[in-house]
Amino acid sequence: MVLKRKKILSTSINKKTSKLMDSINTSIDIDSRLFTEDIAVTRAHALALEKLKIISNQELIKINKGLDKIVNLHTNKKIKFSRANEDIHMNIESLLHSIIGNTASKIHTGRSRNDQVATDTRLWVLKNCKNLKKQIKFLMKDILNQAKINQTNIIPGFTHLQVAQPVTLAHHLMAYYEMFKRDLSHLEFVEQMTNENPLGSAALAGSNYKLDTSLLNKELGFNESKNNSLDAVSDRDFCVYFLQSLAMVSLHLGKMSSELILWSSNIFNLFEISKNYSTGSSIMPQKRNPDSLELIRGKSNIIRNQSSSLLNVLANLPLTYFKDFQEDKKIIFDSYDDLILCIEVLSEIMKESKFNKVNGYKICEDNFASATDLADYLVLEKKITFRDSYKIIASIVSYAQKKKKNMSQLTLQDFQKFNKKIDQGIFKYIDIKNSITRKKTTMSTNPSKVAQAIKKAEKFVKK
Ligand code: ARG
Repeated sequence: MVLKRKKILSTSINKKTSKLMDSINTSIDIDSRLFTEDIAVTRAHALALEKLKIISNQELIKINKGLDKIVNLHTNKKIKFSRANEDIHMNIESLLHSIIGNTASKIHTGRSRNDQVATDTRLWVLKNCKNLKKQIKFLMKDILNQAKINQTNIIPGFTHLQVAQPVTLAHHLMAYYEMFKRDLSHLEFVEQMTNENPLGSAALAGSNYKLDTSLLNKELGFNESKNNSLDAVSDRDFCVYFLQSLAMVSLHLGKMSSELILWSSNIFNLFEISKNYSTGSSIMPQKRNPDSLELIRGKSNIIRNQSSSLLNVLANLPLTYFKDFQEDKKIIFDSYDDLILCIEVLSEIMKESKFNKVNGYKICEDNFASATDLADYLVLEKKITFRDSYKIIASIVSYAQKKKKNMSQLTLQDFQKFNKKIDQGIFKYIDIKNSITRKKTTMSTNPSKVAQAIKKAEKFVKK
């Protein structure tokens, strides 16, 4: 549709900007994403102007109808935004002008793009904190489902990437569940910090019109107004908080994908990634590469950097608004898009892939994962101090390693060479399964405790 549009800011100061200036100055290709928010903010402002009788009720109706038309055209992809009008705010005003004529020229009374863009961006962040929380919850559900079907699957727990102690896979997966649950709380903090309305601040000093800020808050769903107009137009902390919470999610995604990549290696052979999310090699026919996980790892490493990118844009800027702020949007939009994609992909991988149910147990057995339990056997049943029992078991491990055997392949006579007090009872402690059920504390890998954690989690994700 061809709407005749005038360039809104055609004052003597900026009538003739160079093409190159337009290229660096225009942000419409990026901030057109604030379309919905800008319409909402404009409607709320129009209402506040009507209350002050700056515009009549008829004019308000006209403005809203014009905005309806713009929304309709936009929904039907009939709008081509103009770069000459710089950004979404001026594009919408200019479109409104083409549709309803000069009444549109009243809409910018008592406001500025400075409070407008700050408000739009806050609304966008609030909307997408919500979306992000939803998406994270889906991932938590998918992790939970894998935990449920792997409650008896024993794998090695690692420290320093060395086989340490047996744990259940369910317990291991529930650790990731906890991380993502923390991310939800972090996003709630971001929402709290973002939920303040800048409208009424105008350019920086506040509006010359007594706009009803409670009405503006109510219309846009804000809890309260900003306290200080200078802060309101220059505060982009909420964007940094948002990016920092994205960084935390990406930290957890990176950890999980990196681990699954390792586990899907044929050396570990603990995880079999779905064919839908892996690729073959162009030359080595036997391979299945976990590309999707590698991309999640790569992208999350980039996302993690973005809060410092924005911090650097903001650092050392005196009060108040600077065009530097315009750079915030590309950073938050791109980071958000990439993160959502990574979460969705990881969710699908969790749904479609399988964990190996036997190999973990074997790795535990072959690598003395119950050695700590043996030390505790001597403490609990033979009243040997832990430090002494530790030394005895360490010698037994070296002996077994030399003989190329695991603990369950040693005989009672072998054990008694190291301490006469050792009896048949030791074999119960060698058993990897018993190592798991021996754990007593609430947060432990004991299957009964993990089952409780799963139950609690199931309630949580349903909310
Ligand atoms: N496109 C601008 C931005 O995103 C809008 C605010 C412009 N304000 C100004 N004083 N030039 O920051």
